[in-house]
Amino acid sequence: MNTLDAIFARKSTRAYKSEQISEEALETIIKAGCAAPIGMGRYDTLHITVVQNEEMLTKIYKEAEESMFKLVGIRKNMDYGAKTMIVVSSMPAYREGMDAANVGIVIENMVIAATDLGIDSVILGGPMPAIEKSDELKNAIGIPDGFTPILGVALGYAVEDEPAKVHTINVNRV
Ligand SMILES: Cc1cc2nc3c(=O)[nH]c(=O)nc-3n(C[C@H](O)[C@H](O)[C@H](O)COP(=O)(O)O)c2cc1C
Repeated sequence: MNTLDAIFARKSTRAYKSEQISEEALETIIKAGCAAPIGMGRYDTLHITVVQNEEMLTKIYKEAEESMFKLVGIRKNMDYGAKTMIVVSSMPAYREGMDAANVGIVIENMVIAATDLGIDSVILGGPMPAIEKSDELKNAIGIPDGFTPILGVALGYAVEDEPAKVHTINVNRV
């Protein structure tokens, strides 16, 4: 798949088969994340955590659902059944917002690489506050002290093959 095809084919998948992705694919996706440009070259301010332990995945999603329920009073399923979650954490960056920007770029590289490999994905912002708030969860999945989980990505194979959506963002030209 060429780069543009992968960009336009990427889509969020919210129902996964029970099949795990291969070790080789996982390594390629991580490598793609690590190839991302990072502000001031501060790769040391980021950390990548791979969660494939089923008990841990269930715990993360349950806690995320619970904390969302406490916040907005709506119980929403956050566990789409994917057997891999990658969490990208950051230390505070040199300027506010740059930590999230760096993580977003790493994550986008990962989802484009996944698409190229025929692996479906969804970016996960929703479950991150639950991990951040719980020292037990952060320790259990090995997020180092001083790092905040900013975004995750669920990876696997879609139950149903759906086409990618077409989005528009307002553009002005001067
Ligand atoms: C920063 C960010 C956080 C997101 N968090 C979630 C999430 O927690 N759960 C979810 O189902 N989708 C999440 N998404 C996916 C978006 O809802 C999705 O990308 C958007 O609706 C466009 O649809 P598409 O990805 O299929 O093109 C997130 C996307 C981004 C970029």
